[in-house]
Amino acid sequence: MKELRPVSDLRPTAVIVLAAGEGTRMKSTTPKVLHTIGGRSLVAHAIRAARGTSPHHLAVVVRHERDRVAEHVSQVDPDAVVADQDDVKGTGRAVECALEALPADLSGTVVVTYGDVPLLTSETLEGLVAAHHASGSAVTVITATLDDPTGYGRVLRDETGAVAAIVEQKDADEEQRAIREVNSGLYAFDVAVLREALAEVGTDNAQGEKYLTDVIAIARGRGLAVRAHLVADLWQTEGVNDKVQLARLGAELNRRTVEQAMRDGAIVIDPATTWIDADVTIGPDTVVRPNTQIHGATTIGRDCVIGPDTTLTDVEVGDGASVVRTQAELAEIGPGATVGPFSYLRPGTRLGAKGKIGGFVETKNAVIGDGAKVPHLTYCGDATIGEGANIGAGTIFANYDGVTKGHTNVGAHSFVGSNSVVVAPRHIGDGAYVAAGSAVVSDVAPGQLAVTRAQQRNIDGWVARRRAGTKTDEAAQAALAGDAQTGDARTGDARTGAQADARARARAEARGDAEAAAEAEAALASEPGAVSPNDRLSRHAGDSAADSAIDSTTETKDAQR
Ligand code: UD1
Ligand code: CA
Repeated sequence: MKELRPVSDLRPTAVIVLAAGEGTRMKSTTPKVLHTIGGRSLVAHAIRAARGTSPHHLAVVVRHERDRVAEHVSQVDPDAVVADQDDVKGTGRAVECALEALPADLSGTVVVTYGDVPLLTSETLEGLVAAHHASGSAVTVITATLDDPTGYGRVLRDETGAVAAIVEQKDADEEQRAIREVNSGLYAFDVAVLREALAEVGTDNAQGEKYLTDVIAIARGRGLAVRAHLVADLWQTEGVNDKVQLARLGAELNRRTVEQAMRDGAIVIDPATTWIDADVTIGPDTVVRPNTQIHGATTIGRDCVIGPDTTLTDVEVGDGASVVRTQAELAEIGPGATVGPFSYLRPGTRLGAKGKIGGFVETKNAVIGDGAKVPHLTYCGDATIGEGANIGAGTIFANYDGVTKGHTNVGAHSFVGSNSVVVAPRHIGDGAYVAAGSAVVSDVAPGQLAVTRAQQRNIDGWVARRRAGTKTDEAAQAALAGDAQTGDARTGDARTGAQADARARARAEARGDAEAAAEAEAALASEPGAVSPNDRLSRHAGDSAADSAIDSTTETKDAQR
């Protein structure tokens, strides 16, 4: 009495995913189906495969660690019906509980799958449903022939070769245990047959459980057709029972995902050391170099270079970007931008188009504008950096005062000199400068230069007096002798840094070197009182101040020894 259905009605009425079992062999405080491979939980893989068949209803049966599993299922698929299994054990009872949670008037095909079989695809389930409809069977079961069938239910066939029953390993006799065709545990049922047969299934077996597999013999007893559907790809029906299988199936899933990425156009240099999660997308001609892990919902554009030795988790990478030896999470990297090597992008990092985050830079909650550069050795946290700005080597955005976090803005095309500390909350305007080595504790308006640098003092003859006879002294004497011969400005005359700067300016002006002149100008302007009281200190006092600075570093070194 096979009904003819339009192709669109190949949609199953319901898919029931069994996930109530305890999974003791995992030896884990995490419920088995919540363990992950390829960035998704086992049950999420199962739900995705089920959802791909567009069922009218999707139910997940839970019991062990019920609340944790139920919450996760609702997150993964808010439309899934969470069905609770009661105290009666067994796969048959699990399906019965699911049917109780679904509308009572269901008709058509119900598919049963397991929450711990992660490599199964929607296409395989669709193939099962299509075969089920085409043959007009009451039950279609996916079977496989294994070299070692130990532990599985064995498929018993009658004299005509038709499937007659499934007997569990623990209930099987020697002869039955020799059968190598096993039950994968994935089925399509006519829902009315399933309901009626389950009502007849008892628990009189080696495990005292209500076996779903008993439905097969009951259906046959009523003269209904039961057929086996063979799936050649054994990975698709393999379940996870322990952590060895978890790793094995995880590696195979990765192999498949990496292969798919290549078929979609990515260039993967070393598939063996490349790990790509199932939800990742990679554009064509993007090169993925060795030892790279791409996790979560990461999306990568076309023509990028990713790796080597890079880990991206939930990162968005624009076309043509380069991300080398980098760890990044919840970050956005704009088109044409460059990151790395040795960069650490923490959540909330957004790098604009053609921007740069260079070597040994850590960023967090940092919006870095188009074309802006943070090239070297910087901590950039809680900051907004305008387009085209340049953050010098060793800059620290001091965003935390021990109690609260503050935010810093650096305006467009501003320039923060090397080794500066910008103490948040701070606002540096567009087109502003910060001199190298400054500690910026007040805001800087557009066009201003901020400088907080201590003034430099050069103490003449110090080496000759205090390090006489050393190689350093010899080098100095030789250089000074050479200078004296050539009449160079660097003679042994007492001269302050400011005087030297003034001479440098004069020389530069004479050469028409406008840029050097401006530099010298800046140095003078930023150090008012060209001859400071410090410069008038006696040589002796200067020596002893310098000595004590040196002594203290010597002491530190001694203490460390
Ligand atoms: C089951 C089959 C066996 C088949 C094997 C394939 C039965 C009686 N046996 O055996 O023929 O070869 O799968 O892997 O069906 N589950 C529940 N509630 C329960 C018990 C199990 O939801 O009370 C779920 C588990 O979470 C798991 C699945 O059903 O996802 C299979 O359970 P498991 O205990 O692994 O079944 P097996 O004994 O391996
Ligand atoms: Ca199992």
